[in-house]
Amino acid sequence: MKKIIIAIDGHSSCGKSSLAKALGEAIDYTYISSGDMYRAVTLYFLRNKVNINNPEAVAEALKNIQLEFKRIDGQNRIFLNGEDVSEEIRSMPVAEWVSPVAAIPAVRREMVRQQRLMGEQKGIVMDGRDIGTVVFPNAELKIFLTADLEERARRRYKELLENGYDVEFEDVLQNLEERDRIDSTRADSPLTVADDARILDNTNLNREQSLAKALEMYRETLAALEAQKEA
Ligand code: DC
Repeated sequence: MKKIIIAIDGHSSCGKSSLAKALGEAIDYTYISSGDMYRAVTLYFLRNKVNINNPEAVAEALKNIQLEFKRIDGQNRIFLNGEDVSEEIRSMPVAEWVSPVAAIPAVRREMVRQQRLMGEQKGIVMDGRDIGTVVFPNAELKIFLTADLEERARRRYKELLENGYDVEFEDVLQNLEERDRIDSTRADSPLTVADDARILDNTNLNREQSLAKALEMYRETLAALEAQKEA
């Protein structure tokens, strides 16, 4: 069966990772979270007090960052210079700093380079903000996932509480709003809907229903590619 690239972009906390992961499992594709890569870079910058306004310091830091994904016990884990940081990258300090870090062109250039390498063999589902627009403009299937802000804040708040973080709902809501604003207005690769992306609004859909819609889009894409081949 032909392997394709599936790009899933969209706002923060609308379930992109859950959907991308579930879709990857359902069709036996590798799932890659590009957001986790930006988060791991942010964690490195925080730990090493890298001044994000100093281009030389940023360039130097990027040279010292090695990222790797490994599947352990059926779970995707991200390693920063050999250390599993999958939990720590979800902390509030990282969430607060990741958008400014992800807005730095040198950081994006390096991440995009690594992401394209990961896509060379196709058969991947990658989620992020610029996957269908910048990283893989030729991706065969592009899904733009979205949901209402309040609903997204409720979901992220619940997830943070479940993971033991002591947070206020209002702070989570504000953090999301601020990230949406920075992600959508930054000069380099802002979050936009690719012309050929299919929109999936999951405000009123549960995980299974979202997955069913994405699978339908995947099958339609394969069928369209087959039809093209035959024409
Ligand atoms: O998907 P996420 O919420 O874990 O992403 C964290 C941050 O990284 C988000 O605020 C925007 C940024 N990001 C990006 O700029 N480009 C991507 N391809 C993925 C994430």
